[in-house]
Amino acid sequence: MGPLEHGLTRRRTLAGLAALAGLPARAATLSLADIARAKGLQFGTAIASRQLRDDAAYAAAVARDCMVVVAEAEMKWHVIEPERGTRRLGGADAIAAFAARQGLALRGHALVWPLAGRLPKWIEAWPPADKGGLEQALLAHIADLAGRYKGRIASWDVVNEALEARDQRSDGLRRSVLLDAFGEPYFDIVFRAAAAADPGARLVYNDYGLEHEIPWQIAKRAQLLALLERLRARGVPVQAVGIQAHLKAGDAFDARAFAAFLARIAALGLAIEITELDVDDRALAADAAVRDRAIADLVRRFLDVCLAERATRVLLTWGLADHHSWMNRPGWSRSRADGKPQRPLPLDRNLQGKPMWTAIAGAINAAPQR
Ligand code: XIL
Repeated sequence: MGPLEHGLTRRRTLAGLAALAGLPARAATLSLADIARAKGLQFGTAIASRQLRDDAAYAAAVARDCMVVVAEAEMKWHVIEPERGTRRLGGADAIAAFAARQGLALRGHALVWPLAGRLPKWIEAWPPADKGGLEQALLAHIADLAGRYKGRIASWDVVNEALEARDQRSDGLRRSVLLDAFGEPYFDIVFRAAAAADPGARLVYNDYGLEHEIPWQIAKRAQLLALLERLRARGVPVQAVGIQAHLKAGDAFDARAFAAFLARIAALGLAIEITELDVDDRALAADAAVRDRAIADLVRRFLDVCLAERATRVLLTWGLADHHSWMNRPGWSRSRADGKPQRPLPLDRNLQGKPMWTAIAGAINAAPQR
Protein backbone atom coordinates (compact mmCIF):
# COMPACT_ATOMS: atom_id res chain seq x y z
CA MET A 1 0.00 0.00 0.00
CA GLY A 2 1.44 3.40 -1.00
CA PRO A 3 1.85 6.23 1.50
CA LEU A 4 -1.17 8.13 0.22
CA GLU A 5 -3.52 5.27 0.95
CA HIS A 6 -2.50 5.60 4.57
CA GLY A 7 -4.03 9.05 4.52
CA LEU A 8 -0.78 10.91 4.92
CA THR A 9 -0.62 14.50 3.80
CA ARG A 10 0.92 15.46 0.51
CA ARG A 11 3.82 17.08 2.34
CA ARG A 12 4.65 13.87 4.18
CA THR A 13 4.35 11.96 0.94
CA LEU A 14 6.90 14.31 -0.57
CA ALA A 15 9.17 13.81 2.39
CA GLY A 16 8.84 10.06 1.94
CA LEU A 17 9.59 10.36 -1.73
CA ALA A 18 12.62 12.55 -1.04
CA ALA A 19 13.85 10.00 1.49
CA LEU A 20 13.40 7.19 -1.04
CA ALA A 21 15.37 9.17 -3.60
CA GLY A 22 18.09 9.86 -1.04
CA LEU A 23 17.48 13.60 -1.25
CA PRO A 24 18.08 16.02 1.63
CA ALA A 25 15.26 17.09 3.95
CA ARG A 26 14.48 20.36 2.18
CA ALA A 27 13.42 18.21 -0.75
CA ALA A 28 10.20 17.70 1.22
CA THR A 29 8.92 20.77 -0.61
CA LEU A 30 9.67 19.39 -4.07
CA SER A 31 7.02 19.86 -6.73
CA LEU A 32 6.66 17.86 -9.94
CA ALA A 33 8.29 20.86 -11.63
CA ASP A 34 11.32 20.60 -9.35
CA ILE A 35 11.63 16.87 -9.88
CA ALA A 36 11.30 17.22 -13.65
CA ARG A 37 13.69 20.16 -13.86
CA ALA A 38 16.36 18.16 -12.05
CA LYS A 39 16.13 15.55 -14.84
CA GLY A 40 16.13 18.01 -17.74
CA LEU A 41 12.45 17.19 -18.34
CA GLN A 42 9.40 19.44 -18.28
CA PHE A 43 6.14 18.75 -16.46
CA GLY A 44 2.93 20.64 -17.08
CA THR A 45 -0.82 20.58 -17.61
CA ALA A 46 -3.77 21.89 -19.61
CA ILE A 47 -5.74 24.82 -18.22
CA ALA A 48 -8.74 26.99 -19.05
CA SER A 49 -8.85 30.74 -18.51
CA ARG A 50 -12.04 30.32 -16.45
CA GLN A 51 -10.14 28.16 -13.93
CA LEU A 52 -7.49 30.86 -13.59
CA ARG A 53 -10.20 33.46 -13.00
CA ASP A 54 -12.50 31.50 -10.65
CA ASP A 55 -10.23 29.11 -8.76
CA ALA A 56 -7.18 30.86 -7.33
CA ALA A 57 -6.15 27.85 -5.24
CA TYR A 58 -6.15 25.69 -8.34
CA ALA A 59 -4.16 28.26 -10.32
CA ALA A 60 -1.60 28.29 -7.49
CA ALA A 61 -1.41 24.49 -7.56
CA VAL A 62 -0.80 24.63 -11.33
CA ALA A 63 1.91 27.26 -10.90
CA ARG A 64 3.54 25.13 -8.21
CA ASP A 65 3.63 21.74 -9.93
CA CYS A 66 4.05 22.89 -13.54
CA MET A 67 6.76 24.26 -15.82
CA VAL A 68 4.57 24.40 -18.90
CA VAL A 69 0.87 24.97 -19.60
CA VAL A 70 -1.37 24.51 -22.62
CA ALA A 71 -4.86 25.82 -23.32
CA GLU A 72 -7.37 22.99 -23.00
CA ALA A 73 -9.64 24.61 -25.60
CA GLU A 74 -8.94 28.28 -26.06
CA MET A 75 -6.34 28.09 -28.84
CA LYS A 76 -8.44 25.77 -31.00
CA TRP A 77 -9.47 27.18 -34.35
CA HIS A 78 -13.21 26.49 -33.96
CA VAL A 79 -13.13 28.24 -30.58
CA ILE A 80 -11.11 31.23 -31.79
CA GLU A 81 -12.85 31.84 -35.10
CA PRO A 82 -16.34 30.28 -35.07
CA GLU A 83 -17.37 32.85 -37.68
CA ARG A 84 -14.99 33.82 -40.40
CA GLY A 85 -12.96 36.92 -39.60
CA THR A 86 -14.09 37.37 -35.97
CA ARG A 87 -11.29 36.14 -33.73
CA ARG A 88 -11.92 35.62 -30.01
CA LEU A 89 -8.53 35.59 -28.36
CA GLY A 90 -9.33 36.71 -24.81
CA GLY A 91 -9.02 33.23 -23.27
CA ALA A 92 -5.85 32.37 -25.16
CA ASP A 93 -4.28 35.70 -24.21
CA ALA A 94 -5.22 35.18 -20.54
CA ILE A 95 -3.49 31.80 -20.51
CA ALA A 96 -0.41 33.21 -22.26
CA ALA A 97 -0.31 36.06 -19.70
CA PHE A 98 -0.60 33.60 -16.78
CA ALA A 99 2.30 31.58 -18.20
CA ALA A 100 4.42 34.72 -18.59
CA ARG A 101 3.58 35.95 -15.09
CA GLN A 102 4.42 32.60 -13.51
CA GLY A 103 7.52 31.99 -15.62
CA LEU A 104 5.96 28.92 -17.28
CA ALA A 105 6.57 27.71 -20.80
CA LEU A 106 3.58 27.56 -23.14
CA ARG A 107 2.46 24.86 -25.59
CA GLY A 108 0.17 25.69 -28.48
CA HIS A 109 -2.82 23.40 -29.13
CA ALA A 110 -3.88 23.01 -31.93
CA LEU A 111 -3.51 24.82 -35.26
CA VAL A 112 -5.39 22.25 -37.35
CA TRP A 113 -7.67 19.53 -35.91
CA PRO A 114 -9.52 17.85 -38.76
CA LEU A 115 -12.03 16.02 -36.53
CA ALA A 116 -15.66 16.81 -37.40
CA GLY A 117 -16.74 19.85 -35.38
CA ARG A 118 -13.17 20.81 -34.50
CA LEU A 119 -12.58 22.80 -37.64
CA PRO A 120 -14.73 25.94 -37.84
CA LYS A 121 -18.06 25.20 -39.56
CA TRP A 122 -17.23 27.69 -42.28
CA ILE A 123 -14.08 25.70 -43.06
CA GLU A 124 -15.90 22.36 -43.01
CA ALA A 125 -18.43 23.81 -45.45
CA TRP A 126 -15.72 24.96 -47.87
CA PRO A 127 -16.17 23.46 -51.33
CA PRO A 128 -13.14 21.15 -51.74
CA ALA A 129 -12.97 22.15 -55.40
CA ASP A 130 -12.00 25.69 -54.32
CA LYS A 131 -8.56 24.58 -53.23
CA GLY A 132 -7.02 28.01 -53.64
CA GLY A 133 -9.52 29.69 -51.34
CA LEU A 134 -9.23 26.97 -48.72
CA GLU A 135 -5.44 27.15 -48.78
CA GLN A 136 -5.57 30.92 -48.31
CA ALA A 137 -7.90 30.51 -45.32
CA LEU A 138 -5.57 27.92 -43.75
CA LEU A 139 -2.50 30.07 -44.32
CA ALA A 140 -4.20 33.16 -42.91
CA HIS A 141 -5.28 31.28 -39.78
CA ILE A 142 -1.82 29.87 -39.11
CA ALA A 143 -0.01 33.13 -39.87
CA ASP A 144 -2.39 34.96 -37.57
CA LEU A 145 -2.50 32.57 -34.60
CA ALA A 146 1.08 31.24 -34.61
CA GLY A 147 2.25 34.75 -35.51
CA ARG A 148 0.40 36.29 -32.55
CA TYR A 149 2.26 34.08 -30.05
CA LYS A 150 5.52 33.93 -31.98
CA GLY A 151 8.51 33.45 -29.70
CA ARG A 152 6.30 32.49 -26.76
CA ILE A 153 5.32 28.93 -27.71
CA ALA A 154 7.75 26.13 -26.93
CA SER A 155 5.90 23.66 -29.15
CA TRP A 156 2.84 23.83 -31.36
CA ASP A 157 0.50 20.96 -32.07
CA VAL A 158 0.37 21.81 -35.77
CA VAL A 159 -1.89 18.91 -36.74
CA ASN A 160 -3.99 17.06 -34.17
CA GLU A 161 -5.70 13.67 -34.58
CA ALA A 162 -5.36 13.32 -38.35
CA LEU A 163 -5.49 9.52 -38.17
CA GLU A 164 -8.80 7.72 -37.62
CA ALA A 165 -9.21 3.96 -37.72
CA ARG A 166 -12.98 4.26 -38.10
CA ASP A 167 -12.55 6.03 -41.43
CA GLN A 168 -11.13 2.74 -42.76
CA ARG A 169 -8.52 4.04 -45.19
CA SER A 170 -5.42 1.90 -45.62
CA ASP A 171 -3.19 4.90 -44.78
CA GLY A 172 -5.29 5.53 -41.68
CA LEU A 173 -5.90 9.19 -42.55
CA ARG A 174 -9.04 10.83 -41.21
CA ARG A 175 -11.55 11.94 -43.83
CA SER A 176 -12.00 15.72 -43.78
CA VAL A 177 -12.49 18.72 -46.04
CA LEU A 178 -8.69 19.13 -45.96
CA LEU A 179 -8.01 15.57 -47.09
CA ASP A 180 -10.67 15.92 -49.79
CA ALA A 181 -9.15 19.14 -51.10
CA PHE A 182 -5.41 18.48 -50.90
CA GLY A 183 -4.91 14.84 -50.01
CA GLU A 184 -2.08 14.09 -47.60
CA PRO A 185 -0.10 17.18 -48.72
CA TYR A 186 -2.30 19.32 -46.47
CA PHE A 187 0.30 18.39 -43.85
CA ASP A 188 2.98 19.99 -46.00
CA ILE A 189 0.97 23.20 -46.32
CA VAL A 190 0.23 23.61 -42.64
CA PHE A 191 3.60 22.51 -41.23
CA ARG A 192 5.40 24.86 -43.63
CA ALA A 193 3.05 27.70 -42.68
CA ALA A 194 3.68 27.07 -38.98
CA ALA A 195 7.45 27.01 -39.50
CA ALA A 196 7.24 30.35 -41.29
CA ALA A 197 4.97 31.92 -38.66
CA ASP A 198 6.98 30.85 -35.60
CA PRO A 199 10.40 29.46 -36.52
CA GLY A 200 11.34 28.98 -32.86
CA ALA A 201 8.49 26.65 -31.92
CA ARG A 202 8.92 22.87 -32.01
CA LEU A 203 6.38 21.60 -34.53
CA VAL A 204 4.39 18.61 -33.33
CA TYR A 205 2.09 16.01 -34.84
CA ASN A 206 -0.24 15.04 -31.95
CA ASP A 207 -2.59 12.04 -31.72
CA TYR A 208 -4.51 9.70 -29.42
CA GLY A 209 -5.14 5.96 -29.44
CA LEU A 210 -1.52 4.85 -29.67
CA GLU A 211 -0.75 3.61 -26.17
CA HIS A 212 -2.63 0.39 -25.54
CA GLU A 213 -2.00 -3.09 -26.86
CA ILE A 214 -5.31 -3.44 -28.66
CA PRO A 215 -5.67 -4.12 -32.40
CA TRP A 216 -6.82 -0.73 -33.66
CA GLN A 217 -4.13 1.07 -31.66
CA ILE A 218 -1.40 -1.31 -32.83
CA ALA A 219 -2.50 -0.62 -36.40
CA LYS A 220 -2.59 3.12 -35.75
CA ARG A 221 1.00 3.09 -34.49
CA ALA A 222 2.14 1.51 -37.75
CA GLN A 223 0.12 4.02 -39.77
CA LEU A 224 1.60 6.90 -37.79
CA LEU A 225 5.17 5.68 -38.34
CA ALA A 226 4.51 5.31 -42.06
CA LEU A 227 3.01 8.80 -42.20
CA LEU A 228 6.01 10.26 -40.35
CA GLU A 229 8.40 8.53 -42.74
CA ARG A 230 6.60 10.03 -45.74
CA LEU A 231 6.57 13.50 -44.15
CA ARG A 232 10.29 13.29 -43.39
CA ALA A 233 11.01 12.06 -46.92
CA ARG A 234 9.18 15.10 -48.34
CA GLY A 235 11.05 17.49 -46.06
CA VAL A 236 7.94 18.52 -44.13
CA PRO A 237 9.17 20.35 -40.99
CA VAL A 238 7.63 18.04 -38.36
CA GLN A 239 9.92 17.94 -35.34
CA ALA A 240 8.10 15.94 -32.69
CA VAL A 241 5.31 13.50 -32.03
CA GLY A 242 2.78 14.30 -29.34
CA ILE A 243 1.37 11.21 -27.67
CA GLN A 244 -1.83 12.26 -25.98
CA ALA A 245 -1.90 9.37 -23.48
CA HIS A 246 -5.58 9.36 -22.63
CA LEU A 247 -5.09 5.98 -20.98
CA LYS A 248 -7.88 3.57 -20.11
CA ALA A 249 -7.70 1.46 -16.97
CA GLY A 250 -8.39 -2.13 -17.96
CA ASP A 251 -6.91 -1.85 -21.46
CA ALA A 252 -3.67 -3.75 -21.99
CA PHE A 253 -0.32 -1.98 -22.01
CA ASP A 254 2.77 -3.74 -23.37
CA ALA A 255 5.97 -2.04 -22.22
CA ARG A 256 8.15 -3.75 -24.81
CA ALA A 257 5.93 -3.02 -27.79
CA PHE A 258 5.47 0.59 -26.72
CA ALA A 259 9.20 1.10 -26.14
CA ALA A 260 9.88 -0.22 -29.64
CA PHE A 261 7.33 2.24 -31.06
CA LEU A 262 8.96 5.18 -29.26
CA ALA A 263 12.40 4.06 -30.44
CA ARG A 264 11.14 4.11 -34.04
CA ILE A 265 9.96 7.71 -33.59
CA ALA A 266 13.30 8.69 -32.06
CA ALA A 267 15.17 6.97 -34.90
CA LEU A 268 13.39 9.30 -37.32
CA GLY A 269 15.11 12.17 -35.52
CA LEU A 270 11.88 13.30 -33.87
CA ALA A 271 11.34 14.39 -30.27
CA ILE A 272 8.47 12.93 -28.22
CA GLU A 273 6.06 14.82 -26.00
CA ILE A 274 3.48 13.19 -23.75
CA THR A 275 0.79 15.80 -24.14
CA GLU A 276 -2.54 14.89 -22.48
CA LEU A 277 -2.02 12.20 -19.85
CA ASP A 278 -5.05 11.10 -17.84
CA VAL A 279 -6.74 7.79 -16.99
CA ASP A 280 -10.33 6.87 -17.78
CA ASP A 281 -11.41 4.64 -14.87
CA ARG A 282 -14.87 3.60 -16.07
CA ALA A 283 -13.79 -0.06 -16.15
CA LEU A 284 -12.79 -0.05 -12.48
CA ALA A 285 -14.95 -0.78 -9.44
CA ALA A 286 -16.27 2.08 -7.32
CA ASP A 287 -13.86 2.02 -4.35
CA ALA A 288 -11.71 5.16 -4.66
CA ALA A 289 -8.57 3.74 -3.02
CA VAL A 290 -8.66 0.66 -5.24
CA ARG A 291 -9.17 2.80 -8.31
CA ASP A 292 -6.36 5.16 -7.32
CA ARG A 293 -3.97 2.25 -6.96
CA ALA A 294 -4.83 0.75 -10.34
CA ILE A 295 -4.53 4.17 -12.00
CA ALA A 296 -1.18 4.88 -10.38
CA ASP A 297 0.09 1.45 -11.39
CA LEU A 298 -0.87 1.97 -15.04
CA VAL A 299 0.62 5.50 -15.08
CA ARG A 300 3.87 4.25 -13.58
CA ARG A 301 4.22 1.38 -16.07
CA PHE A 302 3.40 3.73 -18.95
CA LEU A 303 5.70 6.58 -17.87
CA ASP A 304 8.61 4.27 -17.09
CA VAL A 305 8.63 3.36 -20.78
CA CYS A 306 8.01 6.90 -22.04
CA LEU A 307 10.68 8.51 -19.89
CA ALA A 308 13.29 5.80 -20.45
CA GLU A 309 13.28 6.98 -24.09
CA ARG A 310 15.60 9.98 -24.15
CA ALA A 311 13.73 11.55 -27.06
CA THR A 312 10.88 12.25 -24.61
CA ARG A 313 11.26 15.82 -23.38
CA VAL A 314 7.93 16.92 -21.99
CA LEU A 315 5.05 15.43 -20.01
CA LEU A 316 1.69 17.13 -19.55
CA THR A 317 -1.47 15.90 -17.88
CA TRP A 318 -4.88 16.96 -19.22
CA GLY A 319 -5.71 19.03 -16.15
CA LEU A 320 -4.15 18.70 -12.71
CA ALA A 321 -7.04 17.93 -10.32
CA ASP A 322 -9.93 15.48 -10.80
CA HIS A 323 -12.75 18.03 -10.49
CA HIS A 324 -11.33 19.99 -13.43
CA SER A 325 -11.01 16.97 -15.74
CA TRP A 326 -12.95 16.95 -19.02
CA MET A 327 -14.15 13.49 -17.96
CA ASN A 328 -16.10 14.99 -15.10
CA ARG A 329 -17.83 17.75 -17.06
CA PRO A 330 -21.62 17.58 -16.93
CA GLY A 331 -23.13 16.19 -20.09
CA TRP A 332 -19.88 14.60 -21.18
CA SER A 333 -20.01 11.00 -22.37
CA ARG A 334 -17.15 9.79 -20.18
CA SER A 335 -19.11 9.52 -16.96
CA ARG A 336 -19.13 6.34 -14.89
CA ALA A 337 -22.17 4.07 -14.79
CA ASP A 338 -22.27 4.33 -10.96
CA GLY A 339 -22.41 8.13 -11.16
CA LYS A 340 -19.19 8.58 -9.18
CA PRO A 341 -16.72 11.17 -10.48
CA GLN A 342 -13.75 9.79 -12.39
CA ARG A 343 -10.31 10.07 -10.73
CA PRO A 344 -8.12 10.64 -13.80
CA LEU A 345 -5.57 13.21 -12.58
CA PRO A 346 -2.68 13.62 -10.09
CA LEU A 347 -4.49 15.78 -7.50
CA ASP A 348 -7.86 15.23 -5.81
CA ARG A 349 -10.51 17.92 -5.48
CA ASN A 350 -8.79 19.22 -2.32
CA LEU A 351 -5.61 19.67 -4.37
CA GLN A 352 -3.90 16.88 -2.44
CA GLY A 353 -1.60 14.50 -4.27
CA LYS A 354 -3.08 11.09 -5.09
CA PRO A 355 -1.15 7.91 -5.83
CA MET A 356 -1.04 9.09 -9.46
CA TRP A 357 0.99 12.13 -8.33
CA THR A 358 3.44 9.83 -6.58
CA ALA A 359 3.59 7.57 -9.65
CA ILE A 360 4.49 10.53 -11.88
CA ALA A 361 7.09 11.78 -9.40
CA GLY A 362 8.57 8.30 -9.08
CA ALA A 363 8.71 7.76 -12.84
CA ILE A 364 10.43 11.10 -13.40
CA ASN A 365 12.88 10.37 -10.58
CA ALA A 366 13.70 7.01 -12.14
CA ALA A 367 14.24 8.49 -15.63
CA PRO A 368 17.70 8.89 -17.10
CA GLN A 369 19.11 12.42 -16.99
CA ARG A 370 18.47 14.48 -20.14
C1 XIL B 1 -11.08 18.22 -25.13
C2 XIL B 1 -11.36 19.14 -23.97
O1 XIL B 1 -10.76 18.63 -22.81
C3 XIL B 1 -12.84 19.24 -23.78
O2 XIL B 1 -13.14 20.14 -22.75
C4 XIL B 1 -13.48 19.69 -25.09
O3 XIL B 1 -14.83 19.71 -25.01
C5 XIL B 1 -13.11 18.74 -26.21
O4 XIL B 1 -11.73 18.66 -26.30
N1 XIL B 1 -7.83 15.29 -27.61
C6 XIL B 1 -7.40 16.57 -27.73
C7 XIL B 1 -7.94 17.59 -26.83
O5 XIL B 1 -6.50 16.86 -28.52
O6 XIL B 1 -8.01 18.85 -27.43
C8 XIL B 1 -9.30 17.20 -26.30
O7 XIL B 1 -9.71 18.17 -25.37
C9 XIL B 1 -9.25 15.82 -25.70
C10 XIL B 1 -8.87 14.81 -26.73
